[in-house]
Amino acid sequence: MFIVHLAFQGCLRGQDVAYGLTADTGGHIRYLLDLVQACAQDTTVDRIVIATRLFAGAHGDDYAMPEERISGKASIVRFASTSPGYLPKEALHGEVASLSEALIAWIAAQPVRPDVIHAHYADAAVVAARVEDRLGIPFVFTAHSLGRVKARALGHLAPDAASLAHRIAAEETALARAALVIASSRDEAEVQYATYESYDPGRIRVLPPGSDLARFQAARPCPRVDATLDRFLREPGKPALLALARPVARKNLAALVAAYGESPELQARANLVLIAGTRGDLDDLDGGMAETMRELLDLIDRYDLYGRVAYPKTHRPEDVPALYAYARVRGGVFVNPALNEPFGLTLLEASAAGLPLVATDSGGPNDIVETCGNGLLVDPRAPDEIARACLRILDEPGLRERFVAGGARAAAAYDWDRHAARYHALLRALGAAEPPLGDPRQLLICDIDNTLVGCDAGLSAFRLWRSEQEGLAFGVATGRSFHSAMAILEQQASPRPQVMITSVGSEIYHLDPNGVSYTADAAWRTIVSRDWNRAAVQAALSGVADLTAQGPLEQRPHKLSYFGDAGSARLARGALEAAGLPASIIHSHGRYLDVLPPAASKGTAVDHVRVLYGLSEDDVFVAGDSGNDVEMLRAGRQAIIVANFSDDLASHTALKHSYVARATHARGVIEGVAHFRKLPAHAD
Ligand code: GLC
Ligand code: MG
Repeated sequence: MFIVHLAFQGCLRGQDVAYGLTADTGGHIRYLLDLVQACAQDTTVDRIVIATRLFAGAHGDDYAMPEERISGKASIVRFASTSPGYLPKEALHGEVASLSEALIAWIAAQPVRPDVIHAHYADAAVVAARVEDRLGIPFVFTAHSLGRVKARALGHLAPDAASLAHRIAAEETALARAALVIASSRDEAEVQYATYESYDPGRIRVLPPGSDLARFQAARPCPRVDATLDRFLREPGKPALLALARPVARKNLAALVAAYGESPELQARANLVLIAGTRGDLDDLDGGMAETMRELLDLIDRYDLYGRVAYPKTHRPEDVPALYAYARVRGGVFVNPALNEPFGLTLLEASAAGLPLVATDSGGPNDIVETCGNGLLVDPRAPDEIARACLRILDEPGLRERFVAGGARAAAAYDWDRHAARYHALLRALGAAEPPLGDPRQLLICDIDNTLVGCDAGLSAFRLWRSEQEGLAFGVATGRSFHSAMAILEQQASPRPQVMITSVGSEIYHLDPNGVSYTADAAWRTIVSRDWNRAAVQAALSGVADLTAQGPLEQRPHKLSYFGDAGSARLARGALEAAGLPASIIHSHGRYLDVLPPAASKGTAVDHVRVLYGLSEDDVFVAGDSGNDVEMLRAGRQAIIVANFSDDLASHTALKHSYVARATHARGVIEGVAHFRKLPAHAD
C-alpha cells in the first residue's frame, strides 16, 4: 500500500518540530508524524509520503528542501505553490489550485500511484478532491479541529468571520467528498460534525489517536519546578488544582479562577496553579493572549487570591511532567475548563501522571472520561459546577482512588499501534470492496453486547461460520450509537454487518457498495420522527425521582437514555401518560432506561429491513440476551436467546416461541440458526 498524506499548515519537518513557532505549527503535526511512524511498522505498507508546502524565509531553510527522508519507507515532499513565503492557514485557500496541479504532476511521475490520499485539515481536502477528479484516487479526511465548532464555542470572541466562513465551506466539501472521515472521538463524530450540512455519520470512523505517555507515567517532582510555584503560595503543601493551557479565550481559564474565587470552601481546601503558557512582556503576546492574561490577573486581584494562586511567567516544555507530579504529590486535581476541547491530550497526560480530572463536557473529554473512568465532566460555563466537582474529588472518600486507577488505563486505551491496525484495515477495505449482498435469501440480526461479543472464542467461531453462509445477510441491532457500535465491532474484528440498527432501533444504517462506509436510512428517520416530541418528553421526565440522565453522547435525536430501576421506569411511564406524550420505554439490565419514539424499537426496525430486502418473516433470525432485545425477539418468528441471558428473558411470556440456546454468546447464535433451519418450515 502507498499512502500520501496532505498537510499544508504550519512549519512541518521530520525532526525537532518547533511547536508554537507559528500559530499553525501545532498538534496536528505531532499527530501526523506519530501516525506515520506507527504505520511504517506495518509490512503491508510500502511507501508513505507527507506532501506539504515548500516555502522560504524567516523560519529557516528546512522548509525549502524539496524532499526530506523520515525513515526507510517514509518521506516528506514539499510542493511549491503560487506564493513563495510562509502563509497562515487563513491564507492557504489561494494556493489550492497551484498545489493541486503540482501534486497531480508529481503523482504522474511516480513509478506506482498512491492507493489512497489522506487529507489533514479542510484546505488539504479541497486539494484531494481535485486530485480525485483527475486521477480517481479516493481520499480520507481528518479535520483535526472544526471551524463551526470553534465559531460556536467562541461566539462573539471568534476571530475574523470571513476566513472562518471560508474554512467552514471547505470543511463542507471535505465531508461531502471524502470516502471516509477519521474522527478522534465519538463527540467529534456524533456532536461536532452533526452541525454540518454534509454530515453523514456512516462515513465517519472514530479512531482515537495514540499518545506517548511514558514520560508522564514516570513523572517525578523536581525541586526547581516546585520552587517556581511555592514562591506564590502561603501554604504550598495544600492540594493543587492544576490547569495547563495557553491563555486563549477558548481555554476558558477565567471560569476556573472565578469558580475558585467564588468558593471560600475551595480556597480553604486547595491552591490554584495556572500554567498559562510562557510570557515575557504581556504586550508581546499575540492572538488575544495578552487580553486573556490581563483578565486572569484582574480576577486574581478582584477576588484577592494572593498567596493562594500560582501563575508562573515561564516553564520549559520538559518541566510539564514535573508540574503534574507537583499536583499529584499534594493530592490535587487536574482541571480543564475549556469552552470546547476537540480531543484533550493534556487530560491523558495528567491521567498518566496520576491525577484525577475535572474536565469540560464539551468535546473529546466526554470520550476520555467514558473510556477511562478517570474524572468528572462539568459544564464549562458554570463556575459553581466546576467548584463543586473539585470539592467532591478532594473530599469524597474513594473517589480520587477510583479516578486515579481509571487514569492508569489511558496509555493502553490510546495506542498508535492499535490505531494503525484499524486504520490500515479500513484503507485496505476501501481498495478491495466487499459490497453488501444484493439479494439475500435470509437475514440474521444479532444484538452486540453479550450476544455477538463477550466471548472471544465464540466470535472466532462465528467469523468462520459466517464466511460459509451463502445468501445470509448479517446485521446487528444494538443500544449503542452507530460509532460506539462500530468501534467495538472493528476492535473485535467482527464480520462487517451490512445493516446496523443502532440506538435501540431508532436509527438504521446500510453498508455502501464500497464495503466500508454506511448510509443512514432516511425513510426510517421519517417514520420514527412521527409523534415524537423530544423536548416535551425530556421535560416531562425531568422531575421523575431516581432517574438520572446517561452521558451526553447517549442522548440521540430519537433516543433519550437514563439510569433507573424498575420503580423509576414505572414512574417515567406514568409521567409520560399524564402528559399525553406517546413514547416507548425500554428497561434493561435492571438499570438502563431508554425512551424512544412510539414507532421505534429493535423489532420494528428489523421488520423495516426485512421488507426492504423483500424477505418473508420465516427468512429472518434475531438473537439477543437482554431487556432491550425483547421487542425484537417478540416480533421475530425465529428468535434466539443466548444462554447467558439476563432480565429473565427465558421466562418472559411473550417470548415463549424463542429458542433458548445451550451455548452462550455468538456460539448460541450459531446453535439457534441451526435449530430453526432444521424445523419443517425450512425443509425443501
Ligand atoms: C447501550 C447504550 C445505552 C442504552 C443501553 C440499553 O449501553 O449505550 O444508552 O441505555 O444500551 O439499551
Ligand atoms: Mg445485549
